[in-house]
Amino acid sequence: MIPALSTRSCFNLVRQQSLRALLFTDTDFIYILEEIEMSKAYSIAVIPGDGTGPEVVRESIKVLDAASRRFGFKLNYTTYDFGGDRYLRTGEVLPESALDDLRGHDAILLGAIGHPDVKPGILEKGILLRIRFELDQYINLRPVKLYPGVDCPLKDKGPDDIDFVVVRENTEGLYVGGGAFLRKGTPNEVAIQESVNTRHGVERCIRYAFDYCRKRNREKTLTLCGKTNVLTYAWDLWQRTFKEVAGEYTDIKTEYAHVDAITMWFVKNPEWFDVIVTDNMFGDIITDLGAMIQGGMGIAAGGNINPEGVSMFEPIGGSAPKYTGQNVINPLAAICAGGMLLDYLGEETAADTIERAVMEVTGKHLKSLAAGRMGYSTTEVGDMVANFVATL
Ligand code: IPM
Ligand code: MN
Repeated sequence: MIPALSTRSCFNLVRQQSLRALLFTDTDFIYILEEIEMSKAYSIAVIPGDGTGPEVVRESIKVLDAASRRFGFKLNYTTYDFGGDRYLRTGEVLPESALDDLRGHDAILLGAIGHPDVKPGILEKGILLRIRFELDQYINLRPVKLYPGVDCPLKDKGPDDIDFVVVRENTEGLYVGGGAFLRKGTPNEVAIQESVNTRHGVERCIRYAFDYCRKRNREKTLTLCGKTNVLTYAWDLWQRTFKEVAGEYTDIKTEYAHVDAITMWFVKNPEWFDVIVTDNMFGDIITDLGAMIQGGMGIAAGGNINPEGVSMFEPIGGSAPKYTGQNVINPLAAICAGGMLLDYLGEETAADTIERAVMEVTGKHLKSLAAGRMGYSTTEVGDMVANFVATL
């Protein structure tokens, strides 16, 4: 009997799994069960996708389930077969209903898009970019954090030096696909590729970055990464907007770096950075470098975020076709993407526990983050993280 405890504190203890046995001896158990019933449920769309996508998504879900069991919320998954195999079978990249279906969920978990038998661009544009654009996921959030035990290619840099976040604009710039060919196929051919930057798009991205920097509450420094010395239209708009918005965030220190220089600083002085905001193309490029200094594609995760809509979380690496089906790919990036998904849903404690579990695994267990060299299989890594999530 536990008469001294309120239903709420009893419920919390049960959630922490320390009083599971008492649940069935206490006369209050009906109320407790009712509260558990009432706890939150989220609907998650899952797109395992191509190559190793399904393998890493399976481990991510294993870990998400461990978190949901421990922290008392429910995750209901609906799986969609979008990807190269479906395209080769049906000739259709995304079915008509896809975007509306995806809009009906609380969040999306994506594995990988890209198939060796499909011409580059078809699936990337037709699935990944289409979802980003149509669901207006205007932020691509990419944390660059070196976890304990992870090999870093930078000499003399450790976890204290590499911990920053790139806020990449995700619906504009060179990615809108604007352009044209003139005199195609002739010696006088012209190819035009347009970068579209709107005040609305730039401002909402910059505001998100300032808010994020404030919430992150580390160095409170936001760096604008651009190319004001050459791209004098687009980056004039970015810089003017940045300065104007900065006036509303006097607690945040602001910096500016050219994109070419920032690749240099990522290697030489990564400890300088807290939050970086940049456009779609530059963000794409610098976050691959970011992924390398945090230990590679095996660990790098990102979120395509619509703060007012449905967001999609993914490991940022590709579909790694040569490792498909071998149970050797590193699932940690997909697991971290799952953690970001929970954070976005407001399950911060669960998200934090996943991160601590991943750090436990990188710090004390894995030999390497590289596919086939982890010292464990894909499924074993998933098991290990799930176990730590249940117990840490
Ligand atoms: C990424 C990828 C995509 C991008 C490709 C696959 C279209 O490189 O998510 O960074 O360029 O955004
Ligand atoms: Mn990329």
